[in-house]
Amino acid sequence: MASQPAHAEPVLVVHGGGVEAVSPARRQRVRQGVIRAASLGHGVLLAGGSAVDAVEAAVAALEDDPEFNAGCGSVLTADGDVEMDASIMDGRDLGAGAVSAVRCIANPIKLARLVMDKTPHCFLTDRGAAKFAADIGVRKIPAGQLVTERNKELLLKEKQQQQGAASPGNLGTVGAVALDLKGNVAYATSTGGLVNKMTGRVGDSPCVGSGGYADNRIGAVSTTGPGEKILKVNLARLALFHVEQGKTVEEAAELALGYMNSRLKGLGGLIMVNRAGDWAAKWTSTSMPWAAVKGGKVHSGTEMGDTTVTDLC
Ligand code: GLY
Ligand code: GLY
Repeated sequence: MASQPAHAEPVLVVHGGGVEAVSPARRQRVRQGVIRAASLGHGVLLAGGSAVDAVEAAVAALEDDPEFNAGCGSVLTADGDVEMDASIMDGRDLGAGAVSAVRCIANPIKLARLVMDKTPHCFLTDRGAAKFAADIGVRKIPAGQLVTERNKELLLKEKQQQQGAASPGNLGTVGAVALDLKGNVAYATSTGGLVNKMTGRVGDSPCVGSGGYADNRIGAVSTTGPGEKILKVNLARLALFHVEQGKTVEEAAELALGYMNSRLKGLGGLIMVNRAGDWAAKWTSTSMPWAAVKGGKVHSGTEMGDTTVTDLC
């Protein structure tokens, strides 16, 4: 196996979920949100923090931002509740932690990290995850604190308009990938899932290999899109498979997303970094807010062709 680069240029990329369309006013807010989160995570890397610490911090910031479908701002289940899924992975040793169907906590990604660090398991769900959170001292918050007016309206609209499958217009998930100064990679992904989902429905985001993957020998990926399709193609691991086969990160992202589209008519997006620090943000949905920080520059965008590059403040 090739050794890790001794002093890698740190890279932090985030996404704010693939969606059909974003209004111009909201586009501005979500763009600011992803830039803030990416800059925060990159700051952790510059201070010598690990890739895992950086992706956790970036995703927690997006969970705290009500514009995004994760943490506060999560979409509502058919019963009007918030049930969240999240996962995190450390590329050094393939350490993984995930939670699903969790309620009444602000930051599911932090609970996923605790599952990775403090339990012999990879994945806790529902009641068990809630008991673990309580036992380890994670603060419980009132369920209503995670519910926004926008999501109440979205659920009403969804119930009026649609019988059956969830509308692709209401997708969203947040995620981050990072390469730290020591050449380690990590990913974190967090979501409220699909609006109007059945209680107990679990998507791809907490599932290692689908919602994300990180392996120091290859790179790291976080995905967004309809969980029922991402799960069936193991989208994150599929993208890294193409990197293992010698593709660039851009090619690998396009091949993996292309396969999900051709095989299942599934549209989505992903962010990716390889062990050399090459990164990509690609999507087949109409838009995907994203931001990447590397070498003193912040790259960001929401739709095809609207990438901007600014100096890191
Ligand atoms: N909730 C679907 C997505 O990740 O975009
Ligand atoms: N990609 C997130 C979900 O479908 O739940």
